[in-house]
Amino acid sequence: MAGGQSQTTGRPRVVVTRRIFPDLAEQLQRRYELLDNQRDEDWSTQELIARLADADGLLTDPARRIDAPILQLCSRLCVVSNIAVGFNNIDLAACTRAGVVATNTPDVLNDATADHAWALMMAAARRVVESDRWTRAGNWQRFALDAFLGADVFGATLGIFGMGRIGRAIAGRAQGFCMRVLYHNRNRVAQSVAQTHNGVDSASTAQWVEREQLLREADFLVVLVPYSEQTHHLIGASELAQMKPGSVLVNIARGGVVDDAALAQALRLGRPGAAALDVMENEPHVLPELFALENVVLTPHIGSATRSARRAMVLRAIENLDQVLCGERPSAVINAEVWQRRRRIQSG
Ligand code: GLV
Repeated sequence: MAGGQSQTTGRPRVVVTRRIFPDLAEQLQRRYELLDNQRDEDWSTQELIARLADADGLLTDPARRIDAPILQLCSRLCVVSNIAVGFNNIDLAACTRAGVVATNTPDVLNDATADHAWALMMAAARRVVESDRWTRAGNWQRFALDAFLGADVFGATLGIFGMGRIGRAIAGRAQGFCMRVLYHNRNRVAQSVAQTHNGVDSASTAQWVEREQLLREADFLVVLVPYSEQTHHLIGASELAQMKPGSVLVNIARGGVVDDAALAQALRLGRPGAAALDVMENEPHVLPELFALENVVLTPHIGSATRSARRAMVLRAIENLDQVLCGERPSAVINAEVWQRRRRIQSG
């Protein structure tokens, strides 16, 4: 193994920040000296640093920030393996400076996340959660022709802001609903990538448009842009004001890409008409104004939460960790320059 070895067990040390599936934790335990978060507490930075002091590898999650103060104090750490495709929780530049390989879990969650985007779109369009609450509260007295009127999905225009692998999976499903699909990526090159990767599916039938056209014409706008300083509040008051009255906004990317306070204000004005958020700014703390609105559906960052997708993500993250600790290039490295540097050092 390329990592160090514990004095007591002779095995590399690995820390896991979240409770994972017990059988997968057992597998890890056979190979590593494992310190896992069985009680699923949120460790403070100091607690994490103490646990990581002589660890070789870290399996972490999107709610856990891994930044310079942690990395500087963990001199043995070789790998930060994120159990997520998004990696805005990791300070990549700090990992690179510290010579720590960072990895993520692309692809295995595409379909689960696309399904959830659709669940959110349908729930918001057809007022599923709002009418469920109303029914449970004992309000249903009689049939009414105008009860809970919603928006048509079939034949509507779907807009995808940030067309990547998950966007293509969402767009593929839209064919069954005979939707017109528009998308915008900052970089137009992405259009040809989307098309050439898609012999039969989705983005080949999706049309790249300017961001203003996307905002103006989408009946359903799904945000899939990764979070960064550049995408902070990408959808703010002025973008929301350009959306169609009655349209539906879905954020399944990361909190902070949408300005939640501006969204709450816009939802009160009906533009967009409804929203569904799987991710929020400052999660798990939800902006109180959102709780007060009936036309917003909220889920707790469960976009990829099917049993098979979440297991596949943990397995992929473990595979990445194993590969680095065995001196192999991990299949999903996100700071490849560190890997190159490590190789050069090792080969002398
Ligand atoms: C989940 O949010 C992920 O990025 O995988």
